Amino acid sequence: MASKTTDTAPNQHLLTIEGLSVSNITKLLDLADSYATHNRDIGTKQSLLSGCTQINLFFESSTRTRTSFELAGKRLGADTINMSVEGSAIKKGETLIDTAMTLNAMQPDVLVVRHPESGAAALLAQKVDCSVINAGDGTHAHPTQALLDALTIRRRKGQLQGLVVAICGDILNSRVARSNIQLLTTMGAQVRVIAPPTLLPASVDRLGVELHHDMRLGLNNCDIVMMLRLQTERMHGTFVPSVREYYHFYGLDYDKLSSAKSDALIMHPGPMNRGVEIDTAVADDIDRSLIREQVEMGVAVRMACLDLLTRESRTQDGKQ
Ligand code: NCD
Repeated sequence: MASKTTDTAPNQHLLTIEGLSVSNITKLLDLADSYATHNRDIGTKQSLLSGCTQINLFFESSTRTRTSFELAGKRLGADTINMSVEGSAIKKGETLIDTAMTLNAMQPDVLVVRHPESGAAALLAQKVDCSVINAGDGTHAHPTQALLDALTIRRRKGQLQGLVVAICGDILNSRVARSNIQLLTTMGAQVRVIAPPTLLPASVDRLGVELHHDMRLGLNNCDIVMMLRLQTERMHGTFVPSVREYYHFYGLDYDKLSSAKSDALIMHPGPMNRGVEIDTAVADDIDRSLIREQVEMGVAVRMACLDLLTRESRTQDGKQ
């Protein structure tokens, strides 16, 4: 977790996975794991963040991420407020910084930000006095998604070290892929990316991953198959000849999956486009698909992030 020091208090932010150590990640996952168990077995609301204000500021649409941040805050007893662009003064021409400064004046403890521009969360973190959590900025980073994916894998496979994880599809436009590559390689997993050449970033060879253009070869002997949506909202122009052809070569069906290990598990951050990057039967396979579990782990991971990031300010403000 990156930290910054202001005149008032040192703030902790979660803006990217980059720079997090094995022990930072392990500590977060261990705490999230205990929240996951608590949510399943006990499920009661806690008062840890009582008196804390969490503002979810979403400039892009979201189902899973926004809802799970809201639920995570509420389960910990925070006052959670949701702001979306539709209902905000952004529609009246206010800039990102002006909106942030307005919200800052209300003295929140945490600002959760999703924005279509890469770097927006880091910019806000420089301007406000509270902790900032990046809930996805452009094609840059989505750290809590990578953490929830890691928790989901760890709970099923016991560890991340040594696993072969294939991330398949639109890598170019995916903040999920970038954050996952950073986290998984840090934790000692072997990461492969499988995509058509048009959907790979130019700098992909610097990411420490194995590169494949053929699904069957890329999936050979892997433990985890992580599928990604074609993020057409970030594409300027046409990147695949047709959806039908894309599905033929890159859509995950049982035939392609047979190249992976027999106990390989399937993941997808959602939203899914069935029949484009994944076959419905594979997505819904209760023995192989972790997609619903990923959503469940999303709440636990976000509880852990909110808990850790506000620890210092809660102690200072006597909110604990
Ligand atoms: C992802 C995102 O927003 O980057 N979704 C998510 O957070 N669950 C992936 C996507 O939109 O395809």
